[in-house]
Amino acid sequence: MHDLVRDYYGRQLQGSADLKTSACCDVSAVPDWLKPLLARIHPEVAGRYYGCGLVCPPRLDGCRVLDLGCGSGRDVYALAQLVGARGEVVGVDMTDEQLAVAERHRAHHAALFGFDNVRFLHGYIERLDELELADASFDVIVSNCVINLSPDKDAVLRGVQRLLKPGGEFYFSDVYADRRVPDAVRNDPVLYGECLGGALYWGDFQTLARRQGFADPRLVEDRPLAVTDAALAARTGNLRFFSATWRLFKLDGLEPACEDYGQAVVYRGGIAGMEHAFVLDKHHRIEAGRVFPVCGNTWRMLADTRFAPAFDFIGGFGRHHGIFAGCGGRLPFDAPAADGQAGACC
Ligand SMILES: C[S@@+](CC[C@H](N)C(=O)[O-])C[C@H]1O[C@@H](n2cnc3c(N)ncnc32)[C@H](O)[C@@H]1O
Repeated sequence: MHDLVRDYYGRQLQGSADLKTSACCDVSAVPDWLKPLLARIHPEVAGRYYGCGLVCPPRLDGCRVLDLGCGSGRDVYALAQLVGARGEVVGVDMTDEQLAVAERHRAHHAALFGFDNVRFLHGYIERLDELELADASFDVIVSNCVINLSPDKDAVLRGVQRLLKPGGEFYFSDVYADRRVPDAVRNDPVLYGECLGGALYWGDFQTLARRQGFADPRLVEDRPLAVTDAALAARTGNLRFFSATWRLFKLDGLEPACEDYGQAVVYRGGIAGMEHAFVLDKHHRIEAGRVFPVCGNTWRMLADTRFAPAFDFIGGFGRHHGIFAGCGGRLPFDAPAADGQAGACC
């Protein structure tokens, strides 16, 4: 599969317009605060963007960030501006042609930003141990439309778990299916290259994340994907695909379910881009200045991470009140209207 993917992204595709589906290429709204940062990115880098979501979580100033499958570097150069001169962004990719574009414009971006805080490494995201990256050395790891292309997703998450600092997070966008993808779709070279064939069934992704020590995957946003090419759509049949952004925190003490300890938080505000409300995930929009009840896991995601200074914390783990109301396990994505299912709390 590596050869197929390298050929697809290194030689067949010349730019975002060559894609045959809406899987790899984010058409979701870019937030206003991000637009000026993206506008500073060199057109050749931006023109070879194949991501399917936004991988710019808040509060990155001074952070060390790793981008898995960085491609030609659009997200690396956006993140470089967010981490600033005190931070660093490392991009890893296995396709020479993609990395060549990224490297070609490094000096341009360093001059524009006023600092050179990025590095690109040739490597495989299943074999991060070959790259001499120290254990527990990254605050945040991101990835944009890449994990689906990996033939060994367990190995990828194992490497992520090793490289994250305690309290760090894997914040990534990828493609998921509403059911297990049959072999005929998985083995179709174009569907695989277009990020559909290797997509995980969302339930299997959650199992995989938990198996690799990420006990409570949090869905940040999602959108249904259209297979616009008629021939490809005929091959995918009833499968439905979604682009989704999840965040996986490396935290001790996360529980398999949302348990209620009677805790609450108050967001003080002050995080850039989230002045009025802090959005942890799709089910937690925490208004500034308001007491907001949380489960034990959400508490830890705020108290034991880089977000702690922005919150006041009420309560503790001394008394358990049972399961947190509304915690469930149905299809987590906003399905097209006909199916009628509601989302779960987390
Ligand atoms: C869909 S593109 C996304 C690129 C980039 N994240 C972006 O948003 O433009 C997938 C990228 O992942 C890289 N890739 C796929 N599988 C990989 C692997 N196993 N190890 C390293 N890179 C990989 C490809 O070379 C390609 O550049």
